[in-house]
Amino acid sequence: MSSQQNKYERLTERNKEAEAGGGQDRIDRQHAAGRNTARERIAILTDPGSFVELDKFVVHRSHDFGMEKSKIQGDGVVTGYGKVDGRLVYVYAQDFTVFGGSMSRTNANKILKIMDLAMKMGAPLIGLNDSGGARIQEGIESLAGYADIFYRNVMSSGVIPQISAILGPCAGGAVYSPAITDFIIMVKDTSYMFVTGPEVVKAVTHEDVTKEELGGASTHHSVSGVAHLTADSEEHALMMIRELVGYIPSNNLEEPHPHPFTDDVNREDESLNSLIPEDPNKAYDIKELIHSIVDDHNFFEIQPAFAPNMIIGFARFAGRSVGIVANQPNSLAGVLDINSSVKSARFVRFCDAFNIPLVTLVDVPGFLPGTSQEYGGIIRHGAKLLYAYAEATVPKITIITRKAYGGAYDVMSSKHIGGDVNYAYPTAEIAVMGADGAVKIISREKMTEAELADKIEEYRDTFANPYKAAELGYIDEVIFPAQTRTKIIQALEMTQNKHMSNPLKKHGNIPL
Ligand code: HXC
Repeated sequence: MSSQQNKYERLTERNKEAEAGGGQDRIDRQHAAGRNTARERIAILTDPGSFVELDKFVVHRSHDFGMEKSKIQGDGVVTGYGKVDGRLVYVYAQDFTVFGGSMSRTNANKILKIMDLAMKMGAPLIGLNDSGGARIQEGIESLAGYADIFYRNVMSSGVIPQISAILGPCAGGAVYSPAITDFIIMVKDTSYMFVTGPEVVKAVTHEDVTKEELGGASTHHSVSGVAHLTADSEEHALMMIRELVGYIPSNNLEEPHPHPFTDDVNREDESLNSLIPEDPNKAYDIKELIHSIVDDHNFFEIQPAFAPNMIIGFARFAGRSVGIVANQPNSLAGVLDINSSVKSARFVRFCDAFNIPLVTLVDVPGFLPGTSQEYGGIIRHGAKLLYAYAEATVPKITIITRKAYGGAYDVMSSKHIGGDVNYAYPTAEIAVMGADGAVKIISREKMTEAELADKIEEYRDTFANPYKAAELGYIDEVIFPAQTRTKIIQALEMTQNKHMSNPLKKHGNIPL
């Protein structure tokens, strides 16, 4: 063999060694736990053959605890870039088969390199997390690596989309990198996130709790609101990421990429004219309206199980991405409470940061009364949504389907806080409060049942309709529900070139 052939042979060997990660035994263990390896995950996530790996031969530089005798190429994380539907993305995937995917100084440096590249090239960053946390043998070096990543997560926020999949353990301070990113996707039964694990919880608070109860996908999906999406399997999670990337632009200077569409822009749905019940106290499912009006009835819902009284998610109209925010009358009558305000405020800010127009469907009886809400700070949490809508400069299209009462009317993308096109259905009731409550406050004198009913009727006729607001120009047009899709598409076309900026400042002071 010539010396040149030897050199090529060596490269092939090195590649093979690196690709074997922590070895077949550990790969088998990973599979037995229902998990894929880092490279398998990347292959599922990215377009076939598109992934380019960087820093494959990087090894750690630790000399403590005999680590100098144990070096594995790649050092527990696979990093590089590839494509999702032909669009560039940067990816890191922690390799649990190598030192439990734990974070060493060199492992962190590999992640930092692609984070810097993602910012330089203006492309999304996708992190596939599966790690035992800080490399215990490296101490402060590992903590420094984490903090360097956190810093870049913050600097990248609002510049490039950042998406985190949790595909195994993610504990301690390690949770804070995903927490800063825009979306967290977890997998049922095989992933968990917590700041302190069940043993520490037991020692400190004497609570008995399993890993799954404390930080599994269902907990974070429905109770804490930490996870935005939950998948049934890793493959499902990775497909969700691909779908999500399709709705969002690569960076804050781009518009979302238009998709080819075949759905008729003039499609009317007569059944929508009977969606809103006659009885204003009766619920209905706002998702029926959403599914009916969007392209191909395709709605990509975010956080479906957390604060279900507010629906958020992505869809397209005439091929253009929008973010939909909608009160859900089917859940707590669509009331605004702490969780629904925080959930939707963050979503509104994401859409605004990435030039995604907002379509808001309003049926809201107001803010949820009660001590638990007041003590929990509904004032500052509700203010987040108000703040988010007011500062959003993307096109804002609003449709009031039924109730728009009190402060909640103002908050939900009203004309007064910058709504560009504000529609209402003939069934809309835009008032300070519901007719029954209003009459009880303004008419203190004793009345017979019949007189009370008359007064309520009078209030309803005067205010519980869209016409007072339309007369004042606060509603641009009263539309038939069947026309909703066409009207939204018209409004999106009209606002297409909207360019607006808020006063220059270092940053605002959103009520956190
Ligand atoms: C070094 C680690 C490691 C770590 C796991 N390994 N975690 N090596 N540093 N943090 C190694 C193990 O030694 C083992 O190596 C291999 O990874 C697989 O680990 P197992 O324990 O066999 O796997 P499993 O039974 O599935 O348990 C997974 C685990 C457990 C629950 C994650 O490994 C674990 O509890 N690890 C320690 C978690 C932890 O306390 N991390 C530090 C938290 S503090 P071999 O060679 O046997 O295959 C932290 C702070 C971050 O992270 C702060 C940021 C600001």
